[in-house]
Amino acid sequence: MAGTIAVIPGDGIGPEVIESARTVLDALDRRYGLDLAYETFDWSCRRYTETGAMMPADGLETLARFDAILLGAVGWPGVPDHVSLWGLLIPIRRVFRQFVNLRPIRVFDGVGSPLRTAGPGAVDLVVVRENVEGEYSEIGGRLNRGFPDEFAVQESVFTRAGVSRIADYAFELARGRRGYVTSATKSNGIVHTLPFWDEIVAERAERFPDVRWDQEHIDALAAKFVLQPERFDVVVASNLFGDILSDLAAAVAGSIGIAPSANIDPTGTHPSMFEPVHGSAPDIAGRGLANPVGALWSCVLMLERLGHEKVAAELMTAITTTLRSPETRTPDVGGSADTADVTAAVAALVAGNR
Ligand code: NAD
Ligand code: IPM
Ligand code: MN
Repeated sequence: MAGTIAVIPGDGIGPEVIESARTVLDALDRRYGLDLAYETFDWSCRRYTETGAMMPADGLETLARFDAILLGAVGWPGVPDHVSLWGLLIPIRRVFRQFVNLRPIRVFDGVGSPLRTAGPGAVDLVVVRENVEGEYSEIGGRLNRGFPDEFAVQESVFTRAGVSRIADYAFELARGRRGYVTSATKSNGIVHTLPFWDEIVAERAERFPDVRWDQEHIDALAAKFVLQPERFDVVVASNLFGDILSDLAAAVAGSIGIAPSANIDPTGTHPSMFEPVHGSAPDIAGRGLANPVGALWSCVLMLERLGHEKVAAELMTAITTTLRSPETRTPDVGGSADTADVTAAVAALVAGNR
């Protein structure tokens, strides 16, 4: 099964973790004959600084021809984040209708959680983040710039179709897991949007009588992620709530550096995009400290999506094995290895050399 992959390393540690991903994907390709073809694009803050644009004007048309997109991270000091993100990452998600942002996380053997109570294997959850509407809207603006009455306003947008499809995706996903969905909300105190979200989630739940579900206010839910993370299975959330919960869940599992994501258009009309949850981490960039596991686990999600389930499972096993030993873990998860050491260990395992 052939597949074409557009690779966008981006900024900061983005290129470092993508180099790791490519090394491991090449090792898998040599062993299993995946027949994947890659094209790399230098779209980044550096490109913005040199040319005035994060990507070319026809960048999205170019990406549309690929089967998948593999992205590192974008963002660099000196380029405002709204420029780097709304100039590349957010348009890819929105134009390609990647309305599901799937963010699984678990506590691995060896890594452990900073929480006393969350032992290895205890936490295994997926945040299903709504990825194209909600709080991340283009409706609004910043007005009266520079005047004392300056203000900013941004309208959240929740559509019946948008909430219905993300709820359906979460319920369907739960069927193949432990059969339990938690809806993140804030209907107390918010008058319009989240009561609407709740109503639609409850309606859709009726179509999945075999799935247990409940809802939690986002503030209480954040506390429960810390106090009882093992209790969650599938957590469905709006764009901003899902963003925050996925970093929190990653921290509960030891580090934001291990968390993967898949931005999916479930209809298959457009390419899906796979990227670690973390950003460009300017504070550690260029020092070999970046944990490549978030990017490697994102490759697992990509291989699954491209129909290579068995190879994906091999890679996941190699990642899990590598995380067991401090010699093949980066410092953020209590190890002494650098990015290249972890990459070499995973690549050797998937190549059958260890
Ligand atoms: P960040 O995820 O880049 O970093 C947060 C903290 O986590 C930092 O201390 C960093 O060193 C650490 N960290 C992150 N990834 C790590 C890894 N793989 N291994 C070890 N430690 C890791 O978030 P931030 O500081 O809020 O953002 C930095 C820049 O990245 C900003 O420009 C932001 O807009 C951008 N960003 C981009 C994406 C994306 O492209 N998808 C995602 C998040 C943030
Ligand atoms: C993420 C990131 C992005 C988001 C930012 C960089 C726009 O934090 O992918 O989680 O909020 O979606
Ligand atoms: Mn985020």
